[in-house]
Amino acid sequence: MEQGKFDLMKRLSLLLAAAGALALGACQQAANESAGAPNDVKSAEAPQGASEYDVVRSMLELANVGPNDLVVDLGSGDGRIPILAAREKGARGMGVEIDQRLIQQSNTNAREAGVADKVSFRQEDLFVTPLNDVTVLTVFLLPEINLQLRPKILLQMRPGSRVVSNTFDMGDWRPDARREVGGTTILMWTVPARVEGRWRLTQGEASGELALTQRYQDLSGQAGGRDLGSPSLAGDRIAFTADLGQGARRFEGRVEGDRIVGDGWEAVRTGG
Ligand SMILES: C[S@@+](CC[C@H](N)C(=O)[O-])C[C@H]1O[C@@H](n2cnc3c(N)ncnc32)[C@H](O)[C@@H]1O
Repeated sequence: MEQGKFDLMKRLSLLLAAAGALALGACQQAANESAGAPNDVKSAEAPQGASEYDVVRSMLELANVGPNDLVVDLGSGDGRIPILAAREKGARGMGVEIDQRLIQQSNTNAREAGVADKVSFRQEDLFVTPLNDVTVLTVFLLPEINLQLRPKILLQMRPGSRVVSNTFDMGDWRPDARREVGGTTILMWTVPARVEGRWRLTQGEASGELALTQRYQDLSGQAGGRDLGSPSLAGDRIAFTADLGQGARRFEGRVEGDRIVGDGWEAVRTGG
């Protein structure tokens, strides 16, 4: 590994450890207390700044985790998030953790929780983990780390997949949902499809240019030179009101790469 990258990793680990001691310090006591609760994953030693179990459960609920999900926790500590996702939601889970000791502990915890076949743990720098197949990404990291991860999340994760953060935001990417659990804020984002650009919108015999402008999930644009009414984008679901000369109607459809497909209409990308 290049020296610069190694130094950055070291600095980040120290930064996270420091944050664990400071900003996340309040979690420690609760984490230790809940580690022994009968319904929770046993942990010989909770890592600094571990998410409390009721916070983990709310994170999984907020992201609507189910059996079809792959839940990946970046900086997974003792593995509690993927383990609970597997045990209580039937999901597959993966934890990415830099600390070998915590990886060993996570594997022990997974075996004891009876989900060793559904979860895995990788000793890896969280910045190199590919996110393409992740349907739910969980993080309890620092805001600056979230910001560094944000472009990769938006580029690699599929539209409609979810990101849940314990406490920290994603800069100017507005969360789609927020929940308070015993003084802890949980934030959730749905990864939006990338729709910015020019499209040819066709409805039966009528067609016109559709120009879309996007800031994360916030959408605006014009069709046939007139502003779209009530545009919305949620994952791969898009909706807007437009008039192609046959009267205003609501267009609701699904983004499929360079096509948007709706009932009786479609749009094809013509330019970035
Ligand atoms: C605040 S703890 C969160 C643990 C767990 N996600 C939870 O919510 O209970 C952050 C974890 O990130 C790990 N970590 C720090 N830097 C990392 C890096 N560069 N790559 C992978 N893991 C890292 C730390 O060892 C620590 O276990």
